[in-house]
Amino acid sequence: MTFGKAIRSEWFLDEDVIFLNHGSFGACPRSVLAVQREWQSRMEAEPVRFMTRELPGHLDAARAELATFVGARTEDLVFVQNATDGANAVLRSLLPTFKPGDELLTSSQAYRAVRQTMVYVAGLSGANVVDAALPFPIADADEVTDAIARAITPRTTFAVIDHITSSTGVIFPFKQIIALFKERGIPVLIDGAHAPGQIELDLNTLGADYYVGNCHKWLYAPKGAALLWVDKKHQSKIHPTVISHFLGGGYQTEFGWTGTLDPTAFLSVPAGIEFHRTLAAQGSREYTQRMLLDARSDISAALGVSLAAPVEMLANLCTIPLPGDPDATEESALNLHDVLFDEYRIEVPAMIANGKLCVRASSQVYNDRSDFDALKEALVDLAGAGRIALGNE
Ligand SMILES: Cc1ncc(COP(=O)(O)O)c(C=O)c1O
Repeated sequence: MTFGKAIRSEWFLDEDVIFLNHGSFGACPRSVLAVQREWQSRMEAEPVRFMTRELPGHLDAARAELATFVGARTEDLVFVQNATDGANAVLRSLLPTFKPGDELLTSSQAYRAVRQTMVYVAGLSGANVVDAALPFPIADADEVTDAIARAITPRTTFAVIDHITSSTGVIFPFKQIIALFKERGIPVLIDGAHAPGQIELDLNTLGADYYVGNCHKWLYAPKGAALLWVDKKHQSKIHPTVISHFLGGGYQTEFGWTGTLDPTAFLSVPAGIEFHRTLAAQGSREYTQRMLLDARSDISAALGVSLAAPVEMLANLCTIPLPGDPDATEESALNLHDVLFDEYRIEVPAMIANGKLCVRASSQVYNDRSDFDALKEALVDLAGAGRIALGNE
């Protein structure tokens, strides 16, 4: 199969939009959505039989396939609706264990929804949320590990660290980071919202205490499919965000029913995995990575900025800082997004990372270089019109 425009019709993507934001909500292929519709038809043909008799077995089968894909034991992994849900399940279950003065450590690049969950449990327990100040641009992986190590204190009781950050698109040196916490006996939740499908995972050997990851971003699953992995030794403490019938039934049973919902996104995860495998066998990783790196160099050079992160810390996302706007605010970022969309038909997120106005591009098999060239031209055009600045690096 060839990639780029030749494969784009596998998605419902709007032909009038240059779509460089797979990272925010994924984009589910038509064939996977067809599988989901098939599940929905089966469910609606006899909802009671499906929900009460058939669903548990189907869920177990889907979980087993996902577990194999992410290198986990099936019994350690459960479905949740999204990474936010999984992080809430862990943090809210642990709420009674946090005490006044405890420090819940995260980083300045943490995803806001997850950090807000930390703020919520900290507010109820008297603990404090502490942010390790991470650099961006990042020169090397040690800068991240060192910054996190410096932020650990004797009061640090729990940590939430990203695997791949949302704002900077950087893959953190998670083995070193997990080791930092392990040495000190501090449990850690890894927020891998962007990891499944983007990078190889082996949760059995990762050494985390808790791990959340989305299937609806890079694993091509329908929206509302994510995984929560919990080390066996913690499972009895962890309950779903929504408590339902099976409270007390144990980790897998409790997460197996959290009230009536459409479980077909979970059941379609194997179809997403299959789609991913087929593309990977045809070289999707190499295609998307090469395109991203080349485009990043090109756009950065055109804007006069240096590369913001080392190649080995990137997979399918890259964040490019825009030069020369020290007063950039969240509002300027939203404004830039809207200008790029409204005037250039480019869907790409603009954000503030470490005080800098940036754009973050995603590289997917349905993209080709012309998409990234369009982004470059739009940014250069805006700079030429004095609407954003150009750098001199
Ligand atoms: C690092 C990170 N964590 C958590 C999330 C939340 O994902 P969801 O909205 O699927 O819960 C995101 C979403 O982009 C993210 O980038």
